[in-house]
Amino acid sequence: MSLRHFIEQARQAGYLIEIHREVSPHLELARVAAALDGKPVLFHLVTPTPALPRPFRTGEGAIPVLVGAGSAREYYALDLGVPTEKLLSTLTDALAHPRTPEVMASGPCQEIVEHDVDPSTLLRANLGRLPILTHLPTDRAPYITAGVAIIRDPDHGRNVSFHRLMVTGPRTVAARIVEGRGTDTAWRKTQDGLPVAICIGNSLAVLLAASMSPPKGVDELGIANAMSPTPLVQCKTIDLQVPAETEIVLEGHITHTLTDEGPFLDLTETMDYVRQQPIIEIDCITHRQDAIYQALLPGKLEHKLLMGMPKEPTIYAAVSEVCECRDVAITPGGTSWLHAVVSIVKRGPDDGRKAIEAAFKGHGSLKHVVVVDDDINLHDPAEVEWAIATRFQADRDLVVLADQPGSSLDPSAAHVPGQKTRTAKMGLDATIPWGAKRQEYEKVRYEGVDVREYRSA
Ligand SMILES: Cc1cc2nc3c(=O)[nH]c(=O)nc-3n(C[C@H](O)[C@H](O)[C@H](O)COP(=O)(O)O)c2cc1C
Repeated sequence: MSLRHFIEQARQAGYLIEIHREVSPHLELARVAAALDGKPVLFHLVTPTPALPRPFRTGEGAIPVLVGAGSAREYYALDLGVPTEKLLSTLTDALAHPRTPEVMASGPCQEIVEHDVDPSTLLRANLGRLPILTHLPTDRAPYITAGVAIIRDPDHGRNVSFHRLMVTGPRTVAARIVEGRGTDTAWRKTQDGLPVAICIGNSLAVLLAASMSPPKGVDELGIANAMSPTPLVQCKTIDLQVPAETEIVLEGHITHTLTDEGPFLDLTETMDYVRQQPIIEIDCITHRQDAIYQALLPGKLEHKLLMGMPKEPTIYAAVSEVCECRDVAITPGGTSWLHAVVSIVKRGPDDGRKAIEAAFKGHGSLKHVVVVDDDINLHDPAEVEWAIATRFQADRDLVVLADQPGSSLDPSAAHVPGQKTRTAKMGLDATIPWGAKRQEYEKVRYEGVDVREYRSA
């Protein structure tokens, strides 16, 4: 499937917001999209800001921009054709059973091929033609935020992941590449640079797969293909394959030249700091005839869901090894990374505690977890708080673990350069105490009525 297939479905379902007024990619578009967070928004008329110097003047090709495609669970369910409550099992199945994608002779992402990446010509393959957003006044340059980078590791094969990309020139970007992950380890094995294809404008299945960290050697595009058909095509200038339905593909290589990258807003809605990061040189741009540019607002719901949702199946698998796990939610209030709620069917006195320990194993960056019974809606923060209020006693049900490996994203953790972040962790067992009378702990609910019958009379 494709991004434009999602747009059509979202339009029909009444989710899509369409903006026809002229909007600048410099600060304005991000502000409008942030005010509409949680909705897919299609900006039809994106105009450059002539006052800005090149290459920071972007949008000269008048390409429409979509933001927020993945900003609610309902949109993934709609695109994957499953009910929202089946998303967890869909992700779990795809992760366990990837399917090798078909390779086609040609694809829509190569309807136009622009080899001639010439910094002096504006209307050829030049990043300035893309409506790349500048998000905040503190940004050093426009940033590509929804680019999915495909590389090949000589030992482990294809790796697919997100990397934010700061525009540094008409055909260069600086990539934030987290140390020790797939792209970083493959890049460190090269001397002349690592070939990379950056796909912009992807199906929701590709976005989800790119956010996952499967075991080394497992192909994320196989995971995407297991969720939704994802045929591939061969790139034009490098030996890599990309999803055929992508809107725009930047072909190039990750060099060993470093430059300052950042500051940039991160998942936690706090500023990430400046680091020396590699420059990517773009040699060729391919795109659809009527390409749509995709952007993702850092720190907002789409960023959060894409980070958190792929960790739900890994927590689910770990908790299922020690007790009966019903559901898992990584919650947006906890930056969609540091907090989770796990619901279980309690079959023994220690199941709550065992679930806490397993959840920390299932997601290494998890900092706080609440375990509830399966009568609690774990997506409703008020109901989870109600379970803590009525079922939890701190001196009996609290687990605190000191000095644990933690998330580099948490500003309150202990960060020592070159070493793994350290943090304290906390688990709350908010399940009904073992042996207690269940009915004393259950929420008494009024019987439902159809109020329309009363209001219209
Ligand atoms: C929206 C989004 C943005 C991300 N941005 C970056 C980034 O800028 N740099 C990075 O190294 N990882 C980033 N990530 C994380 C990687 O895509 C993710 O951890 C990936 O699963 C790494 O997989 P790997 O260990 O197989 O390389 C981002 C993830 C999401 C969902």
